[in-house]
Amino acid sequence: MARASFLPLDKNRVMVNTVRSNLSSCHPPSNASCKSSKCPRCLYMQVFPSSSCSLHKIKLLKLSDLMASLPRSTLQPNTNPEIIKTAFEMENTSMIDIVVQNESDQEDADLNMKQLIRTRDIDHHQPADDLDGVFLTWKDLCVTVSDGKSGTKPILQSLIGYARPGELLAIMGPSGCGKSTLLDALAGRLSSNTRQTGEILINGRKQVLAYGTSAYVTQDDTLMMTLTVREAVYYSAQLQLPDSMSKSEKKERADMTIREMGLQEAMNTRIGGWGVKGISGGQKRRVSICIEILTRPKLLFLDEPTSGLDSAASYYVMSRIARLGQRDGIGRTVIASIHQPSSEVFKLFHNLCLLSSGRAVYFGPASAANEFFSLSGFPCPTLQNPSDHFLKTINKDFEKDFEEGLAGVLSTEEVIQLLIKSYKSTERYQQVPKQVAEICKQAHGDLETKRSHASFLTQCLVLTRRSFVNMYRDLGYYWLRLAIYIALAIGLGTVYFDIGHTYASIQARGSLLTFIASFLTFMAIGGFPSFVEDMKIFERERLNGHYGAVAFVISNTLSAVPYLLLVSIIPGAIAYYLPGLRKGQEYFAYFVSVMFACMMLVESLMMLVASIVPNYLMGIITGAGIQGLMILVGGFFRLPNDLPKPVWKYPLHEIAFHKYAYQGMFKNEFEGAVFQNNQKLDGGGPVPTIITGDEILRDTWQAEMGYSKWGDLAVLLGMIAFYRLLFLVIIKGTEKFKPLIKAFKSRPSKKPTAQVTVNPSSAPLHEESKL
Ligand SMILES: Nc1ncnc2c1ncn2[C@@H]1O[C@H](COP(=O)(O)OP(=O)(O)OP(=O)(O)O)[C@@H](O)[C@H]1O
Ligand SMILES: [Mg+2]
Repeated sequence: MARASFLPLDKNRVMVNTVRSNLSSCHPPSNASCKSSKCPRCLYMQVFPSSSCSLHKIKLLKLSDLMASLPRSTLQPNTNPEIIKTAFEMENTSMIDIVVQNESDQEDADLNMKQLIRTRDIDHHQPADDLDGVFLTWKDLCVTVSDGKSGTKPILQSLIGYARPGELLAIMGPSGCGKSTLLDALAGRLSSNTRQTGEILINGRKQVLAYGTSAYVTQDDTLMMTLTVREAVYYSAQLQLPDSMSKSEKKERADMTIREMGLQEAMNTRIGGWGVKGISGGQKRRVSICIEILTRPKLLFLDEPTSGLDSAASYYVMSRIARLGQRDGIGRTVIASIHQPSSEVFKLFHNLCLLSSGRAVYFGPASAANEFFSLSGFPCPTLQNPSDHFLKTINKDFEKDFEEGLAGVLSTEEVIQLLIKSYKSTERYQQVPKQVAEICKQAHGDLETKRSHASFLTQCLVLTRRSFVNMYRDLGYYWLRLAIYIALAIGLGTVYFDIGHTYASIQARGSLLTFIASFLTFMAIGGFPSFVEDMKIFERERLNGHYGAVAFVISNTLSAVPYLLLVSIIPGAIAYYLPGLRKGQEYFAYFVSVMFACMMLVESLMMLVASIVPNYLMGIITGAGIQGLMILVGGFFRLPNDLPKPVWKYPLHEIAFHKYAYQGMFKNEFEGAVFQNNQKLDGGGPVPTIITGDEILRDTWQAEMGYSKWGDLAVLLGMIAFYRLLFLVIIKGTEKFKPLIKAFKSRPSKKPTAQVTVNPSSAPLHEESKL
């Protein structure tokens, strides 16, 4: 039986003495060099693997397993095991190592085996191992945006600064001062209408980071609203963490990260969004952070991580983020913009960059900012939060109501100018360029060129599953469409009920089939808003390097297939059998195939539209417009030979997928069929009693008879592949050309002013996953 006593030492350390335990080393000692990938001495794994290393005589245990093996009655009085567990998981640990002494000790240990569970003592200011950390420096950083015809408006002006591993740099300033723009510039994510000049270096060089080494938590939360918190984080863990980690390890990491962000209560709640209430805004913020810190990236950008959180939650979230900077002895660089930190949160910052209208009012140690304000003539009143004081002093958006001091007699712009002047006269200001130069000169360890992540196949599988679940739970994606299609199909079936085989039925069949191939499939546009939401998530995850565009396209295609089949088969059967279209299962199967292909094509088309116009309204209008045009030239409303040759026939009629859908359906319906001819001829000649389907196809519909209906279906399927490939090309193309366009925009102006350097990181800082 195992007994243990928990001796809380201090906030960060807990010692567990196991008096008698069933924990022992699994392997005999060996002199061979240790190769266990799970031994913390050999390799730091950030999980709780249940394994042992014979060389280092270390047994790794999950805390939960350990806790489960210990009777609660043996715990020290007043020590709540849950508290200890949480303390372990949150404060320190990603692992516990139990040092087993040598073999003989182990035999003696029957009675008195002492095992020491050591936790990593995380001291907030403990220097981290900088060797493979990311040093980010920026110099003369300016960002401008064109301001109509009149010229350009500066957003950031000649900023200089640095962010070092193991440190948390806070960017503060009033709303609209340029915090997000600075983060975007540093992460290489500025929007295309901005122009950036200056130099941003990573470890003293212009370089891009490997996949997964940087992450950016944007100001807006883009999350899959149909998933629960646990699912969202877990799917993300599966997508990002390497295949060398087992499923349970990934799950464990996800659960631990959720607890780190204090989301354990909301784990099984859906995220929710427009129309569906889910978790709160503050909780969404924390889910976004969870997803990005799963891989423990070396460089982390956070835009307003605490917005929507109460002061206690803000503190806990920021302290976890600050601690992340030094976790596992690896220095991580954290840059966060923040609005209104409490004094406790403020103490967590190592450096502070205080901005006002894009100008630096202060850059330096956060702890010295108060002194700087005092020396500049704006001391922080006693009992006032320093950060509140800083922001109040430099916010010029509102009329001031200062009672005392210089601030009472100067306008805010004058106060800001005075502070900037005062800052420029300080030793600290002179130090910044020196420190930047020093960082650039310093020898840095090589950055990871490629960080292992989930394989392409795993990514495709996980994304397909996630997308399938999302489509299932989002009523707007397919279910609503299915209901409307059924209603429409019943309408069609009733209007064209028992269509017969008379001469008049020829035209009716044509109209019915055209309606199905164009207007019924046209409504696939209805899923566009849901798809735009997916695209936003894809964009965020792609920029953070979770996976590439190919995996997204494949998974989106695969997950949609079962729903599209459902939406084609059920309404298709109603609209096919009620009017009494051609009998025979093979004809019905072809009809459904064309319907399915058309819907898939409309979805592919909307995908293309979404990659160019990522806005619901504009997207729907554009998509509807393109389809309207294709229906017009499809060859039914105006027969192919009657279409004006330039533009309308060549090329529009040829490239409109409706041409192949109509002709395929017509051939399916008419080829080899015979219809009664009760038509009267004007010339009084002999009236043929029957009319063949081939004649109808050739003369009435002017179909191209050189190839069979399968040829039409093949063209439709080929078009699906082409459209999806085109989507990939657009995504990859924008990725490649955006930096070039930005570099072109940021080229030195003819006026010889300050030196202007093209920023290499105007592409995402990391390399995107190749697929
Ligand atoms: N792409 C852009 N086009 C036009 N103006 C822009 C663009 N990006 C930023 N701006 C302008 O630059 C200024 C700074 O914007 P930014 O979003 O960086 O502010 P912020 O400090 O993050 O504000 P908040 O705290 O409210 O998030 C704003 O006035 C904004 O309108
Ligand atoms: Mg912002």
